[in-house]
Amino acid sequence: MCGIVGYTGVKDAREILLDSLELLEHRGYDSVGIARFDSETSQVCVDKCVGRVRDLRRECEQETLSSTCGIGHTRWATHGAVLEKNAHPHRCGKVTIVHNGIVENYRQLIENYELQEQLVSETDTEVVAALLDHYYHGDAQRTIQKVAGKLKGTYALVMMFEDQPGVIYAIRNVSPIVVAECEEGMMLASDLTALGQFTKQYFVMPEHAVLKMEADRMTLVGFDGNVVEPELLTLDWEMQSLGKNGYPFYMEKEIMEQPDTFMATVKNRIVNGLPDFTVDGVSDEALTSCKRICVVACGTAWHAGLMLQALVKSVLHMHIDVELASEFMYSDPVINENTLLIAVSQSGETVDTLEAVKYAKQKGAKCLAVLNVRGSSIARESDYVLYTEAGPEIAVASTKAYTTQLAVMYLLVAKMALLRGEYTVEETRHYMEEFQRVPEAISKVLEQRKEIHVVAKNVLEAKDLFMIGRGMDYSTLLEGSLKLKEVSYIHSEAYAAGELKHGPIALIAQDVPVVALVTQEKLMSKELSNIKEVKARGASVVLFIKQSLAEQLKEDYELVLLPDLEDKFMVFPAVVALQLLAYYVSSDKGFDVDKPRNLAKVVTVE
Ligand code: AGP
Repeated sequence: MCGIVGYTGVKDAREILLDSLELLEHRGYDSVGIARFDSETSQVCVDKCVGRVRDLRRECEQETLSSTCGIGHTRWATHGAVLEKNAHPHRCGKVTIVHNGIVENYRQLIENYELQEQLVSETDTEVVAALLDHYYHGDAQRTIQKVAGKLKGTYALVMMFEDQPGVIYAIRNVSPIVVAECEEGMMLASDLTALGQFTKQYFVMPEHAVLKMEADRMTLVGFDGNVVEPELLTLDWEMQSLGKNGYPFYMEKEIMEQPDTFMATVKNRIVNGLPDFTVDGVSDEALTSCKRICVVACGTAWHAGLMLQALVKSVLHMHIDVELASEFMYSDPVINENTLLIAVSQSGETVDTLEAVKYAKQKGAKCLAVLNVRGSSIARESDYVLYTEAGPEIAVASTKAYTTQLAVMYLLVAKMALLRGEYTVEETRHYMEEFQRVPEAISKVLEQRKEIHVVAKNVLEAKDLFMIGRGMDYSTLLEGSLKLKEVSYIHSEAYAAGELKHGPIALIAQDVPVVALVTQEKLMSKELSNIKEVKARGASVVLFIKQSLAEQLKEDYELVLLPDLEDKFMVFPAVVALQLLAYYVSSDKGFDVDKPRNLAKVVTVE
């Protein structure tokens, strides 16, 4: 998704804006731009291009412009092709603007205000600039409020008005903006990652309030004209956790961090060997009163929800739905006051998930969110929040966020099992003892990464690849397949192994690569039959298999041995092996592993 930064203070705005935009590159983008006040000419100077921040930096190096106030933007195209004219910032008359989100009624506005003649781009954002300029006669606050009242959709708008040097304005609806005060001046951004270099104190801009930011002060005014006092939050991770620590890509670093992030996530939630959410303020009543559970999430977070579903059914014997957030509101979900909605999101800003939460709350459901970013939009909409302690996840392909989401879910299920009498204290303790063996199992897989790299080399040229498994292994493979798809661009599909014979096996031919995941002992014999079916048709099969199940298969298959845990915990070593597989295929193909084509780290459009 688009990245936004704004700075006004005493230092050179160009370097601060460009450095901050580079910290947002992980969000994915196709063009970039900055706009700065030129105090000598009292004009706003706009520089933008298709490409990377480094390309824009080269373009700006030739300039002599000195400025201490400006805004910047990395664009992930929604309206309008990837062309320089569509890059932000957009300027119209006295107004210069950057935007993250989608204004759904921009065509109507063009027609109502006859703006077409003024427009040079194909974007919704330029329409907003034109409308602001249309109404602006010196009172920026009122102008912004008037125009915002005419917009339908999501927006984080950051603006400068040419006759107000050194001043930046902002307003948001759904799309995030965080703001920080520091000795260098005032800074805002669409993502905390861009602020961490400045300060540990920040606040999340409230929606529909107008921010006026100057070098040494800022004010927030609500639509009712009253001043709004924002809630100050503290950044809870160190800046150095933003570096790659010597790894070539963030994705590898974040894969390698998983034993530590797992432990960081669980360490304060195990008391006397039992699960405990006291630190999170999640009441026992919240976990015992619900009659149904519904998970809403997207992508990797949805895959984590599938794993929760398997546990809730097998351990709690409860009904649980797992819904794609983008489908949820349009599928007539059965949601009421007896439903516990569990929203899973690394960023806490995914609009599909955020809108699903708002919908469910309107239906009376309580919402418990599993999130990685404090103060995020979904956190503010939820009744309870269980934070993962993954730290900033920079690579677009989610890895440590997934395993820490699972860590929270496994604890949640154990707590609910104890509270609901599905587990005795002894059974819960046993579950927790096995659960606490997970970091060691993950570490063992990380020690095998060279072996997994060899498997990766054998599939570098593949165009299609199948992943087959049964039960929880199938859910794990959905995540493993998404990883491979999104970073290597190989068309990888995960199938329930028993489903292949109902059609997809028609795609199996000589040398088609198949990854089979075998960790569920009770399903092994059936799965081996499915594996033989594809092998008989020429598939090139590699088994990712639980070590204790592999003995009799060593002669017949290429194996990646996975350290033993009880079946229900095997997702952890298995998914880390699949993350490594995807990572090595992508890095060996020479791709930009952290910023795959077309993808964004945070999807703030529906
Ligand atoms: C996963 O590797 C992707 N980056 C993507 O599927 C992601 O999980 C999805 O967009 C949800 O993001 P969220 O967890 O921040 O809500």
